[in-house]
Amino acid sequence: MYIINDPELLRAKISELKQQKSAIAFVPTMGNLHKGHLQLVDQAKKKAQTVVVSIFVNPMQFNNSEDLQNYPKTVAADTQLLEQQGVDIVFIPSADVIYPNGLEKQSYVEVPGLSDSLEGALRPGHFRGMSTIVNKLFNLVQPDYACFGEKDFQQLLIVKQMVADLAIPVEIISVPTVREKSGLAMSSRNGKLTLAEKEKAPFLAQLMNKIATALDNQQTDYAILTEQASRELDSHGFRTDAINIVDSSTLQNVSSNTKQVVILMAAFLGGTRLIDNKTVNLRH
Ligand code: PAF
Repeated sequence: MYIINDPELLRAKISELKQQKSAIAFVPTMGNLHKGHLQLVDQAKKKAQTVVVSIFVNPMQFNNSEDLQNYPKTVAADTQLLEQQGVDIVFIPSADVIYPNGLEKQSYVEVPGLSDSLEGALRPGHFRGMSTIVNKLFNLVQPDYACFGEKDFQQLLIVKQMVADLAIPVEIISVPTVREKSGLAMSSRNGKLTLAEKEKAPFLAQLMNKIATALDNQQTDYAILTEQASRELDSHGFRTDAINIVDSSTLQNVSSNTKQVVILMAAFLGGTRLIDNKTVNLRH
C-alpha cells in the first residue's frame, strides 16, 4: 500500500494507473475509521481494480474551531486497517498543501438549494467546505467511482448534484448505513460517548423506526410526528437538534409530487451530536 502526502506524487501515481487502464474507486474520509468506512472500501473494491482512500480532516467544512481541534485523529491505526483491507493508495495531505493560500482565498464550489437547508442551515458553510474538498479530491484522484455513505444523506445528495451539474466524470456509489447490533448507526463520534450514553444512544434509531412505521400507516401530520418525537428524545436524555421529514430528492417540504420522504434526525447526547436517517416510500 502506498501512503502519499504530496498531491504531485499522487498525480504521478494516478497517471501511471491511467496509462495501465486500471479503473479507480475512491473513498474520501476524515479518518478515525470504523466498520462503516470499511464497508465503503469493500464496495470500492467490488467496483475497481485500484482503491484509493483519502484521510483529510477538512478545516473548510468545520464552522466550529473547537469541533475541528477535537476531531479524533488516529492516522496510524487507520492506515493499518486500510492495509489489512487491501487498499492500494492512501492519500494523507496536510491542510497547508490543500489550502496553500489559506481558507479565505480558496475558490469554492457550492450547490445552491440543497446546501442551504437542514444541516446546512444549522452549520453555515459546512456544505460549501465539503463540496469544495470533494471536488478538489476528485480532481487529484480522478476516480471512475467514488463511494459515500447514506448516513450523511444530505451530503450524498449534494455530491450527486455537484457531479451532475459540473459534469464530473465519476459514478457516485451510495452505500447503506452500517449499524451496531443495537441499531445505532456507526460513526466516528460514537467513540466520544460515555458508557451510559452508549446505552441510551440506540433510542435515536428506534424512534426513527417508530416514525417510519407511523408514515407507513399513512400518518401524514409531519409537524405532530416530529414534535412528539422531539419530546420523546428529550425525555430519554437527548437534546433534540433537529427532526425533519422532507422529500428525499429535494429536501423540501413534502408535496403532492413526493414519492419518497426521508426522516432526518439530529440530537445531542451529552456533548456528542448524533445523526441518523431513514427513507420511506409514500403510498399515495
Ligand atoms: O463524510 C466525510 O467524512 C467528509 O465530509 C468527506 C466526504 C470526507 C469530505 O471531507
